[in-house]
Amino acid sequence: MKNLTADELRDMYLKFFESKGHAIIPGASVIPENDPTVLFTTAGMHPLVPYLMGQMPHPAGTRLTDVQKCVRTGDIDEVGDAAHLTFFEMLGNWSLNDYFKREAISWSFEFLTQKLGFKPEQLNVTVFRGEGKEGDEGYIPADEEAVEIWKSMGIPDERIFRLPREDNWWGPAGTTGPCGPDTEMFIDTGKEKCGPECRPGCHCGKYIEIWNDVFMQYNKNEEGKFVPLGRHNVDTGMGVERTICMMSGAPTVYDTEIFAPIMAKIDELRTLGKGAGAPELPSIPAEDVLRARRIIADHMRTATFILCDPKGGVKPGNIGANYVLRRLIRRAVRYARQLGIGPGFTVKLAEVICEKYKHVYPELAENLAQCRLDLEAEENRFNQTLDKGEAMYKKVAEQLKAHGQTQISGKTAFKLYDTFGFPFEMTLEMAAKDGLTVDKEGFDEANRKHQELSRTTSAGSFKAGLQDNSEVVTRMHTATHLLHAALHKVLGPSANQKGSNITAERLRFDFTWPEKMTDAQIAEVEKLVNGWIADAIPVTKKTTTVEEAKSEGAMALFGSKYGDQVTLYSIGDVSKEICCGPHVSNTKELGSFKIVKEQSSSAGVRRIKAVIGNM
Ligand code: ALA
Repeated sequence: MKNLTADELRDMYLKFFESKGHAIIPGASVIPENDPTVLFTTAGMHPLVPYLMGQMPHPAGTRLTDVQKCVRTGDIDEVGDAAHLTFFEMLGNWSLNDYFKREAISWSFEFLTQKLGFKPEQLNVTVFRGEGKEGDEGYIPADEEAVEIWKSMGIPDERIFRLPREDNWWGPAGTTGPCGPDTEMFIDTGKEKCGPECRPGCHCGKYIEIWNDVFMQYNKNEEGKFVPLGRHNVDTGMGVERTICMMSGAPTVYDTEIFAPIMAKIDELRTLGKGAGAPELPSIPAEDVLRARRIIADHMRTATFILCDPKGGVKPGNIGANYVLRRLIRRAVRYARQLGIGPGFTVKLAEVICEKYKHVYPELAENLAQCRLDLEAEENRFNQTLDKGEAMYKKVAEQLKAHGQTQISGKTAFKLYDTFGFPFEMTLEMAAKDGLTVDKEGFDEANRKHQELSRTTSAGSFKAGLQDNSEVVTRMHTATHLLHAALHKVLGPSANQKGSNITAERLRFDFTWPEKMTDAQIAEVEKLVNGWIADAIPVTKKTTTVEEAKSEGAMALFGSKYGDQVTLYSIGDVSKEICCGPHVSNTKELGSFKIVKEQSSSAGVRRIKAVIGNM
């Protein structure tokens, strides 16, 4: 087996699928545009949903391949083991109603064995075992076709595992959308089985999943039913970090060349913490040190990619994607404190991560300066919270001791957490050191009551937000193009898009402009957009080349890399933009447009929040 670097693997994969007739397309932003169903791009198929659904042809054709940055935080508690990560790169190849199972599986097999040099004996696969009975509603047959194809590749029956939906069904990425049965490829690490039931999908670390071929023939609709899509798509995803790990024989993904400089920096920062005059380092078991190092490395890599994303706009905060980012940074801070790593480490790690990846993802270098500021601010804020929380905890502990008590009540632990933002785990850790116990059940009980209360109070507003999101988002998207055009007219061509984010409630648009817009400028932009809405201008699209689109005066955003063929959306002669859509067919569908906020986003960048509808 070869010992490839991530750079070599990406290159090899794209070239291999190019040789099988696939067009190499650029990966998308890790912050999804115009999709309120997910917080982050979780898989390579995500930006391709409209094409998988057959809503429009992809400009690059029916066979595509790319590398996609993905963020998945569902398994955040498993990070620190051998293979789980909250950020990873996914290699993918797609058939948009073109080839199907036989080609997908045989190319996976060929790439794994001929190009990467895995031995067929190392390969174990899983397939969907079906659901329900023939004739019943919701019946989905077992994927015997995939089984037969694997057998024809020489994989014997004992290494083909037929598993239920929870293992072998992929998608949709959000609540609705394309999905289907899949076949997953696992490498047997050669470790002992953890028990008689051990099989691919078991989390003991014997079998590591590196690739998944999904056969997207279904759509999950709004009623939660799986209905035939009327198309046979293939969606595959191969994990770069895990594949490199399996090829090099490294015990964990953190022991690969990918993580080497990040881990080295963490160790260096730890050593610095031990310098003369530094407070004595907490002594913690070696296993905990290993896990903490990995968590810090993983979370900082994810946070850096989110903060440097070209779409921008996600900052540490208290809801949605912002909260996920805050949680990642704060967890890293907490584990760094455990290891005796001093303040300022988040920025130092972001710098190393940027250095490692900037030749592949230039946005890391471009946005590092802002990323540094954001990390520094969040790290400082949280360190202050922790310092305060620790002081409060100490008071509590002293009082208990003074009264001869040994247990911190659930209510007190909850107060530390809820009022002072002091993580419960830290109360547990500090209590253990002080020889005190904590009433965990009491804490859970207080937490549960609190959550029930907040759920009841927010239920009303929640419902309103669920109205036909996709339609609102499409309208907002067209409004964004009009806003961009109006800004060019009012402020001039240097007012360029820096980022865009749309939810069912509002659109948000970041653009380069050095100063606050005046009230008159804002009013003028609103007037222009509302005028275009009243003009009922048709929205049209066509497939063309980047050069042609540019020669027609189209706006192309972010200096993105586009494929050869692109979709050009025109709104009369008001706006022309290269974009994936979707859009409304006539501007009158927007109703009306209002700017609700104009503020600074970062140095030299302004942010507008606007709403549409019948106001
Ligand atoms: N979309 C599939 C996955 O993420 C390939 O596993």
